Amino acid sequence: MNTADQLDELLESRLRQTRRPVEPFTAVIFGASGDLTSRKLIPALYHLALEKQLPNPYRIIGFARREKSDDGWRQELREALGHFSRTQPVNENVWNEFAKNLVYCQADISDSAGYTKLKAILESFPDPRLQTNLLYYLATQPSQFGEVAAHLSAASLLHKENDTYADRLVIEKPFGHDLASARELNADLVRHCHERQIFRIDHYLGKETVQNILMFRFSNGIFERLWNRDAIDHVQITISEKLGVGSRAGYYEEAGAMRDMVQNHLLQVLSLVAMEPPVSLEPENIRDEKVKLLKSIRPMSPAQVLENVVRGQYFAGEVDGEARPAYRSEPKVKPNSHVETFTAMRLFIDNWRWHGVPFYLRTGKNLPLSASEVRIQFKPAPNILFAARQDANLDPNSLTLRLQPNEGIILRFNGKIPGTATELRPVRMRFSYDSEFGAYTPEAYERLLLEAIAGDATLFIRRDEVETAWSIVDAIRNAWAGKALSNREFYAAGTWGPTAAEDLMARDGREWRNPQPQKE
Ligand SMILES: NC(=O)c1ccc[n+]([C@@H]2O[C@H](COP(=O)([O-])OP(=O)(O)OC[C@H]3O[C@@H](n4cnc5c(N)ncnc54)[C@H](OP(=O)(O)O)[C@@H]3O)[C@@H](O)[C@H]2O)c1
Repeated sequence: MNTADQLDELLESRLRQTRRPVEPFTAVIFGASGDLTSRKLIPALYHLALEKQLPNPYRIIGFARREKSDDGWRQELREALGHFSRTQPVNENVWNEFAKNLVYCQADISDSAGYTKLKAILESFPDPRLQTNLLYYLATQPSQFGEVAAHLSAASLLHKENDTYADRLVIEKPFGHDLASARELNADLVRHCHERQIFRIDHYLGKETVQNILMFRFSNGIFERLWNRDAIDHVQITISEKLGVGSRAGYYEEAGAMRDMVQNHLLQVLSLVAMEPPVSLEPENIRDEKVKLLKSIRPMSPAQVLENVVRGQYFAGEVDGEARPAYRSEPKVKPNSHVETFTAMRLFIDNWRWHGVPFYLRTGKNLPLSASEVRIQFKPAPNILFAARQDANLDPNSLTLRLQPNEGIILRFNGKIPGTATELRPVRMRFSYDSEFGAYTPEAYERLLLEAIAGDATLFIRRDEVETAWSIVDAIRNAWAGKALSNREFYAAGTWGPTAAEDLMARDGREWRNPQPQKE
């Protein structure tokens, strides 16, 4: 079989995968002239077309204020695809067919005339399914979400119930900036549609490796038996970023690592790693378990926050030999800013499975490399036999789920060094996505868009998940409010964070295991 045949077979098998059928639909993108649309959404939709995952027919309407024709919009998107498509060169035949389905609607979100125009475009489509199975993607500022929903509803374009389909609203983070604003946003949206029509995107959930956390846990008897307080000493979750704040400094001054990364990505990964098995793979059953897990995180008093949660901020340093300025010297950052560019924490989950098992989470900017991984550290074996011959401590077994890059799973255990001596050293068993399945790595947005088109909410965040996550983050931020960073909370760009983060582990007799750069 040649490579083209193999690819066809792979694509066919993907089409056969069990998921809700993808019916003819129209997607309306609000913010069609923006960065997210050209960088992520259109490349993802183009790839779905390339892989024959889109139904026939479908339409994509772009909604934005800037004046342009259908052809003008198509040309701009084609040019952007040259930069942002994950596969190059762009397949011109597929693009030309895809581009015929793109329609531009020049209008203002705040003007009801725009929705009349949108309605007229929808009504011009010949197939009635293109007028009733509607996906609204809000690639605009969050402050505009409620306004769009209100106008759509007033124009009878957002049907709360529909015999065949329910119209969906896909929204991008941030979902508020604290619990109160998240509640306000959610309340605003559910005035115009049902919660089940709201698809909140956390692109982390679109990653194959993140989805694999549940598959791995619940389809492998050997590991699930060990996935509890009896066998596990502690869990480390690291999401590190090599980049500094760069052009996002203005936003970052308001957000910090806690709002930017912990409230969403880190707590999402934690909930998948630690949740109980759902009663079925139905979206609500999975999301129920995630919420239950988040609610089981032990609340902390302000004093406990200061003991268990560390902040950090980078000062000048080097990443990969490249000089990086201090956070306080970045443009748009206050010279005395106390915003955290790093945070590390120790959390406990108060349920039967995890009683007494600490979960250490950390994330930061200007760290030595960009990587996301979950490390399950097992309890050590009783070292009765080998203690006299080597170190009193045997290297404890661990299982690392590498979410990105070099996606895979690594099991680390002790093996005998060949030779006449009885000497042990840690060895690794590795599963790598690339070697097992080939270098097929769809962008998170491809999967997420397809699920939203199909109306499957499993990979999207429910209102109570968002609000529970905010209540955890708010408690931490409130305890920090008005407190200056201490010397132990600064770190040089290019290092693995401040001394305070090392102390957090050292106090428990443990240490961070840093992601490794090499492809293992
Ligand atoms: N960019 C990313 O990679 C990324 C990643 C994750 C999340 N997000 C989120 O996605 C959203 C969009 O981000 P972005 O980077 O694409 O922003 P952007 O480049 O500033 O684009 C904003 C879009 O909104 C449109 N718009 C603004 N006001 C409008 C109005 N009154 N009526 C009609 N259209 C209006 C703009 O078009 P006109 O100026 O032509 O009206 C433009 O198309 C934000 O919430 C952001 O936080 C973005």
